[in-house]
Amino acid sequence: MKVVVFGTGYVGLVSGVCLAEVGHDVTCIDINKSIVKSLNRGISTISESKISTLLLKNIKNNRFKVTGNQQEAMQNAQVSIIAVGTPFDGHKIDLSYIEKVAKSIGSELKNHSSYHVVCVKSTIVPGTTDNIIKPIIEKSSGKKCDEAWGLAMNPEFLAEGTAINDFMHPDRIVIGAEFPRTFNIMKELYSPFKNSLVLSTNIATAEMIKYASNTFLASIISFSNEIASLCDVNNKIDILDVMSGVHADKRLSPILKTGRVKPGLLSFLHPGVGFGGSCFPKDVKSIISYASEMKLKVPLLKAVINVNDNQVQVLIRKIVDNLQIIKGQKITILGLAFKPGTDDIRESPSIKIIKALLSLGAKIQAHDPKAIKKMKGIFSNEKIYFSEVLDDVLEKTSAIVLLTAWPEYKDLHFKSIAQKVPVIDGRRFLEKKNFKHYVGIGYNSSKSSNFKIQRKK
Ligand code: UGA
Repeated sequence: MKVVVFGTGYVGLVSGVCLAEVGHDVTCIDINKSIVKSLNRGISTISESKISTLLLKNIKNNRFKVTGNQQEAMQNAQVSIIAVGTPFDGHKIDLSYIEKVAKSIGSELKNHSSYHVVCVKSTIVPGTTDNIIKPIIEKSSGKKCDEAWGLAMNPEFLAEGTAINDFMHPDRIVIGAEFPRTFNIMKELYSPFKNSLVLSTNIATAEMIKYASNTFLASIISFSNEIASLCDVNNKIDILDVMSGVHADKRLSPILKTGRVKPGLLSFLHPGVGFGGSCFPKDVKSIISYASEMKLKVPLLKAVINVNDNQVQVLIRKIVDNLQIIKGQKITILGLAFKPGTDDIRESPSIKIIKALLSLGAKIQAHDPKAIKKMKGIFSNEKIYFSEVLDDVLEKTSAIVLLTAWPEYKDLHFKSIAQKVPVIDGRRFLEKKNFKHYVGIGYNSSKSSNFKIQRKK
């Protein structure tokens, strides 16, 4: 199939390259000339595992290209995918990019004689496709929906760092549409993904599935953090022991004949300094704002954000409790990215924590294997020592604070300094028994739990 993808950001580029990989003829559209040039040379403009290999391969196969020429790209195309950003503007999602693209697709559809499906992949609150995008395309094309074109909503479920794998081996393909012709074309688009679960639904339900999925994961992170705070005030409890007990519920980790299944979901039932990234904070806030427009109360979702925001304070309090005086102290930060495996620092708790420590007068030295360049952009006016060499930030420090669970920190206990100063684990990633002075979310070094997991030999 001939497919056009609007936007070469994270979702657009991954979707475009993967659809080319499964055999479609894909053209991505971007208005930025330098992005077009770079991608056509096979140089990825996003940092994502495996993307460069697939990009180069499909450019060579003539199945993937990028252009600014929308008219040429849409000629004979059967599907246009909208994958532009919908940032949160502080009150609600900003639809300006998506509206602009919808309008220009509509103008192009004026000249189309064959049926064309416009597929919305961007994350938008329920009702947006039907009430905003559809009228824009109808007006600019002069054609009613399903007369000459169809409209589908097809949310993405790509996590940074595993996005290519997530696209190539989908856990679900959600297709929201109104008319059989549209469903048929969308099913043809995804036909190479054999044996995948396809959920066909109406457009608003597809929009809602995306929010329900992300807010659910964000909620269980905040739930774990609230339980961690309860554990923190009782000197006999460690949240990790508690969570081991919760995880063992057979409805969360079913016991099969082959042994116990440990679903990936369990890793979200885990304490830490809170969720970040470009999706969870934005999506929870956007759906709260949608609820308020609908005059609905959503106290649970508001609490998810409040608990998450408070985790920064929880961690700062632990640093202050363990150092007493912060002013003039050198503090080592391990990890800046919002999660391991990415250079993305959007909404990373590390930003708020560094700002808070600087305001208390601390001197910061920070390590991250990937995210330093981006973090320097945020703290360009501050005197922070950044290094990609771990040992560089472990010298002459008063405390070590772990904020991203990068695998290279797993052996931290072998560094002599890590036995001399407090180690504050914001991800509960390190083995507490390996340190002389270990502090973690939901656990304090002054406490001990008698909990032991009995394992069968
Ligand atoms: C998230 C969802 O996982 C994707 O399914 C979704 O498609 C994507 O948002 C999106 O809306 O585009 P992403 O933001 O890349 O993907 O990151 P996650 O890996 O889910 O991490 C989000 C937050 O959850 C991070 O702060 C991370 O620290 C935390 N997390 C992640 C955990 O607590 N446990 C984990 O096992 C993974």
